[in-house]
Parts: sequence; C-alpha cells; structure tokens
Amino acid sequence: MADLHIQIDRGKGGIAGQIASELRDSIRGGRLTPGTRLPATRDLATDLQVSRGVVVEAYEQLVAEGFLVSRVGVGTQVTPKNAGRTALKSRDPSPPRPPRPPGPARRARTVASHPPYYGHRPTSPDLGHFPRERWLAAVRHVLATVPSEAFDYGDPGGVPELREELAAYLRRVRAAEVGQENLVIVGGVAQGLSLVLHVLTQRRALRLAVEDPTSHRQVPLLRRAGAQLVPVPVDGQGLDVRKLSGDAVLVTPAHQFPTGVVLSPERRAALMEWAYAGNRVVLEDDYDAEFRFDRDPVGCLQGLAPDRVILSGSVSKALAPGLRLGWVAAPPDLAEAIRRARGEQDLGSPVIEQYALAHFLRTGGYDKHLRRMRREYRRRRDALVSALAAELPEVRVRGIEAGLHVYLELPPGWDEPRTVRAARELGMSVEPVEPMRETPGPAAVVVGFARLPAHRAAEVVSGLKVRMSGQSVD
Ligand SMILES: Cc1ncc(COP(=O)(O)O)c(C=O)c1O
Repeated sequence: MADLHIQIDRGKGGIAGQIASELRDSIRGGRLTPGTRLPATRDLATDLQVSRGVVVEAYEQLVAEGFLVSRVGVGTQVTPKNAGRTALKSRDPSPPRPPRPPGPARRARTVASHPPYYGHRPTSPDLGHFPRERWLAAVRHVLATVPSEAFDYGDPGGVPELREELAAYLRRVRAAEVGQENLVIVGGVAQGLSLVLHVLTQRRALRLAVEDPTSHRQVPLLRRAGAQLVPVPVDGQGLDVRKLSGDAVLVTPAHQFPTGVVLSPERRAALMEWAYAGNRVVLEDDYDAEFRFDRDPVGCLQGLAPDRVILSGSVSKALAPGLRLGWVAAPPDLAEAIRRARGEQDLGSPVIEQYALAHFLRTGGYDKHLRRMRREYRRRRDALVSALAAELPEVRVRGIEAGLHVYLELPPGWDEPRTVRAARELGMSVEPVEPMRETPGPAAVVVGFARLPAHRAAEVVSGLKVRMSGQSVD
C-alpha cells in the first residue's frame, strides 16, 4: 500500500480538488507507478485529517479521469499499464476493448477506436434494446430533409423543433408546465444540474440540501459548480422535509436515488410550502420517471410550482446514456441565463441528434419504445422480485414501484462488499450503498434489473444465495 506525500493548503479550500491534483501530478510524474495500490479512503482521510467523503471525492474524480481504477475487494490502485488510461491518454497505443454488448450490437462494427468502458450501472437501461432501426430512420429523415444551414452552430439552448416537441411531451407525460421558452437542451441531467448551479451560485452563495443517501456520482459535480452541500435524511416517505435547511434542494421525488422511495403526497406539499415560504429553489431530478410500474403516474413537482421548481431529465433511461441528451425546464428568465451559460461554455448540443430526437418524438417512436420497454422491464422486475421473495426472503426489497433498479437491505451477516462481489460474479449490475451515504446506515445494495432477462432471474438469485451462505459460514 503506497504511503503518500500529499500537501494540502487548508486555507485555500477545495481540499478534494487539491488531493486529486497532487495524486494526478504524482502519477503523471511517475512517482506513483501503474498498479500501485492506494491507501483505503478511511486511512488516507485519517492521515490527512480530512473527512472521508473528501478523499472519496478525490479518488472518484481520478477514477472518472482514468488515472485510478477501483474494484470491490481490491481497493483503489493506479490504473495498471495494460488497462490503458484511455480517458486522458487517447494516444495510448492499445486502449482496452469494452465488453461486447449482447444482441444486435454484436453484429455492429465498432467505429473508430474502442472507447474506455466504465462498467454498466444498475440504473442504465438494456442497451441491446436501443431502437437502432427507428433511430437510423430518424437520422436518415433529418439528413434528407433539414437544410444545410441547420448544421451550423445552433441555438445553445437547443433547436426550437426539439424544444417544441419536448415541451409537448413533458406536458403530456409528466404534467409539467412548460413551453419551449422554458426549455434548454443539455447533455443529460448531469450537465443540466451543473449549468443550473453555475447560474445560481453566480447570483449568490448557495447552500444546497441533498438527499442522504444520494447519487455519489453527482456530488463532485454539485461541489464543482460551487454549491455548499447540506445532507438531509431520507425515510420511508422520501426526503424528510422537516429537516430541510439551505437555499435550495436537489430531490428525486419520482423514485428516490438510491432507496427507490416515492415522495409521499404530504411531503410533496410540505416541500412546496418550504420553497414558497423562503423563496427557495427546488431542483427536481426526474431521472427515471418514465418507468413506473405499479401506481398511477405521479406528475412532476415542476407542474405544481413552475416558478419555484427546475426540472431536469434526459433520454439516458428511455434510450441510452451515450446519447447525452437531456433538458432543463426553468422559469423563462432562468432558462435564458442557463442558455447563455451553455453558449459561453461549449456552444450547445449536437444538432443532428436533436433533430432526430424531435422526429422520434413527433412520429410517436419515443412513446412506442417506452411502452414496449415498460412492459419488458416490468417483466424483469417481477421475475427478480419473485425470485428474491422465494429464495432470499431475509433480503428486504425496496423501491420496486418505478425505475430500473431495486434497493436491497441486506440481512445480518451480509456486508456490502461481499454481496457486491458475489452478485458481480453472477453478472448482476450492482453497487454498494455505503459510498452514497453521508450518515452510516444499514447495509444495502442497489441492483439493476434492466439487463437481467426474466428467465435468468431465478438462477442468478439462487447463485447469490449459495455464494452468500457459503461465505457467511466461513
Ligand atoms: C440520480 C440520477 N440522476 C440522473 C441520472 C442521469 O444522468 P444523465 O441524464 O446525465 O445521464 C442518473 C443516472 O443514472 C442518476 O442515477
């Protein structure tokens, strides 16, 4: 385990960024060589006298950049040579091949070089069901009909045709109150939140309440945008609104990530009261709301209070995360500020894909695909949930009403790392919850069912039972 010399300037702030920068320099300069194992986050946090979350954030940033790899059971190490650090070193001679996707993707030739593969997340859809033919037809239609001038730099807020179609879709499906003047097209919820926070933090210092637990992948981007985060607990009704503080809140009301709780009607009302009482802002992350299985659809919060709530969504669950297409719906003045910020940042999203999505929405392809996938995911979820009930009744299954993942509370004797290792060996998409928590809580994991065919659920759950009972006897 490497003993690290890391210098931080406590007066300067941005401690996670400083740690990441020191480690990055050490790797670049050869002081930390490929394969070197880094100290556990807890140990490094103790050495540096910082909170563990700060070290986790620094490690995660470097994992995202390709300098480090992190594996359950092994810990975090400097990316070994043969793993290829393609995120930053695109000139590496032999970047790794991503695992071959199932289904039609097998037949498709990979274009250009092989991209780095960051692993399948439990919240990702079944990419083998991407509607290739219909998307191709949409792109073909765009290329055949759109005038050449349209391929110039577009409106950084997004092409008007897409904003028009999306506004109609969000009104219809999410009961949002939007017109195209409220919408900004972005590269997914992640970029949408970054831009919104960038604009808000430029206006004033922002204390942003976040759910605890929350998506640990979002935390670095929220901090990077300048927000000071205030964790607020989540219980069986969702975000505990009574414990809210701050100037704004980021919330996943349709299906809390990771617990899967749907924000109760009382809490929704209380949240709106909180927002109005203090002139506060609610950032609504509507990341998987299209997939709702057991209850009547609940409209988004934005539809209740369009002047207080900023809604972010994307096609990452409905189509594919790799499209990097999403939207932000905000009051017109804020939407305009976000659009300007996008223009200053990178001049907007790819235009051909935006036209293709507009066409896909207009011709009903998007709705049709969603209906088909909703049926299929419900089958997969049902198969997984029944198998768990039959084979592992001691595991408590939560958050099954919507989305693409379930939240499993683990029985005594099952810890998160061992469960994750066993489940991954069986090919499940699974993540531990501990890195998502600010406050320690009962052991739990998030399991995605989108890529687990219904006919395999029983076999996989039996395998998990065997592995876990074998290990707990050890
Ligand atoms: C809580 C949460 N929000 C948003 C997203 C989607 O992000 P994006 O739209 O940037 O792909 C995810 C992805 O899994 C998520 O887990």
